[in-house]
Amino acid sequence: MCGIFGCIVKDANAAPTIHASLKRLEYRGYDSVGVATVQDGKLYLKKDQGKIDEVHAVHNLDDLPGNIGIGHTRWATHGAPLQINAHPHVDCSGQIAVVHNGIIENFSELKQELEGRGHVFKSKTDTEVIPHLIEENLRNNLSMSLADAVLETVKRLDGSYAIAVISTKEPDRIVCARHESPLVVGVNEKAVYCASDIPAFLPVTNKAVIVEDGELVTLSLGGYEIKKISDSKVVAREPKLIDWTPEMAVKQGYQHFMLKEIHEQPGTLRNTLRLQEHYLDLMATFLDRAHEVFLVACGTSYHACLASSYMFSKLAFLVTYPVIASEFVEQHGKSVNIDSTLLAVSQSGETADILAAVNAARQRAATILGLTNAIGSTLTRVSRVYIGQQSGPEIGVAATKTFTSQLSVLAGLALRLAKKRGKVSQDEMDFLAEKLEKLPDTVETVIQTQEEKVKQIAKKYKDAKAFFFLGRGISTATAYEGRLKLMEIAYVPAIAFPAGESKHGPISLVEPGFPVVFICPKDETYKTLIGNVMEMKARGASIIAVIEEGDEEIKRLADDYIEVPAGTPEVLSPISFVVPLQLLAYYMAVEKGYNPDTPRNLAKSVTVK
Ligand code: AGP
Repeated sequence: MCGIFGCIVKDANAAPTIHASLKRLEYRGYDSVGVATVQDGKLYLKKDQGKIDEVHAVHNLDDLPGNIGIGHTRWATHGAPLQINAHPHVDCSGQIAVVHNGIIENFSELKQELEGRGHVFKSKTDTEVIPHLIEENLRNNLSMSLADAVLETVKRLDGSYAIAVISTKEPDRIVCARHESPLVVGVNEKAVYCASDIPAFLPVTNKAVIVEDGELVTLSLGGYEIKKISDSKVVAREPKLIDWTPEMAVKQGYQHFMLKEIHEQPGTLRNTLRLQEHYLDLMATFLDRAHEVFLVACGTSYHACLASSYMFSKLAFLVTYPVIASEFVEQHGKSVNIDSTLLAVSQSGETADILAAVNAARQRAATILGLTNAIGSTLTRVSRVYIGQQSGPEIGVAATKTFTSQLSVLAGLALRLAKKRGKVSQDEMDFLAEKLEKLPDTVETVIQTQEEKVKQIAKKYKDAKAFFFLGRGISTATAYEGRLKLMEIAYVPAIAFPAGESKHGPISLVEPGFPVVFICPKDETYKTLIGNVMEMKARGASIIAVIEEGDEEIKRLADDYIEVPAGTPEVLSPISFVVPLQLLAYYMAVEKGYNPDTPRNLAKSVTVK
């Protein structure tokens, strides 16, 4: 997730407006920043790695001439956060500049085609193919307008994009377009704006035009013209008056970042599924060759590792050892050797416990693999191979969208490994790959149809003194994650363990009304799980069940239930079954009057051991 911005300003330079607006978009990405403007037939551009204030202190982002320009604040997905990979990106002639938020899936083949035509690329980004495609269109048709050149260009892009384009050839136009990534236009009597998000221009105008998917907009000081990319039909759309405060706008109208990020999951999962094949294949190769694989992480990321150990085992017949990072050295430090492989999973890529485990293993010649959301983080620098999960910045301290993205990447790895090892048939492979692709829609359905019910359940149990979270098989990991969410943001004591463990001790805690959350996908463990539900029910527990849609058997047993669409294979079920638990923790915290975004005693990245 990055922030893009563009503006044309009457009788004033655009750069100061761009700089100020990028600051308001900084929550969308902050590893590099850039601004480009046009004046008197010349393109001016400043960009560098670093936060906006750092880059401004060095380059003075206000000091670019011209009343028209674009800007970008980056969250790296393709290409490390370096000056050369910062946006805006330009064509060979240096006359066209582009900023982009999203992921171009087919950039490799487009880049190859363009290089074959003599285009020279400077960066490692997917974005850079866009200005060169526009240049190619204009070169092949000298009478083509910038808008038409952009239109032809975006028709060739697979993936997600929100772009803004300026050119010295048409110094009074900004052309922007979107597919999946957000884009809005702002207007007032002095200027016209385009941005990833309303906060960028809300302090200077509350007149916003939402650009719909598959639309291209041409901005000029006379206003804006919207066209459908598919058939170039002009679309008439009046601005809406936005009554949000700037603070609300940054959360896109949600009360908290955590709720916004839970709702973002269909989109972030789609972006995660756009990961470049060769990164996944390369990591699968390392896993395939490994003599032993440790999955090392903390907190929520550890729960992703725990779930993935079932995926690797059931799909690829690979035994892996999920290990809490802070225990790794004690537990395995002496046994790690050159034949060991560590897959470290860390949203921030900076968690001290994980880096300590990784460093200990590196000293014993182990192979280090990394899965992170932060390209350029320490974990990416110490990993032999790493994958960036492409979830965009997560502001809420509690991990939500980054967890489901981690699961999605790990499932993709397990699938590729299974194929590499010949452990799944082509049909099974296609079936699972298709189900993984469907998960964003499944998560969207859960949120849309169950959120209200979860709110009611949170109200009903808000005074409960403690909870159990129980599951069997891979759902044990889902149970652990649901428990952590409830503890860390609603401060409710909760215990999670494999449902089969209840009779080995914990069941002694259960008394009438004790809430027990069961995770109940209809997988191989379902029948046995019914027995676990009965044993809790027999002791008067209140059964809260996350079930597959239409599961009449558990509906009869449960006091409350939340339905998840049926048909998700067991190994992928944590991705959809965790969402009701994220919502439960969120609404429980709100019911109890806490701010879920800033839970007490916690930090987003634990950089101390
Ligand atoms: C998750 O909700 C917590 N904020 C915490 O457990 C977190 O998952 C853990 O600190 C690991 O962080 P990382 O993924 O950035 O390494």
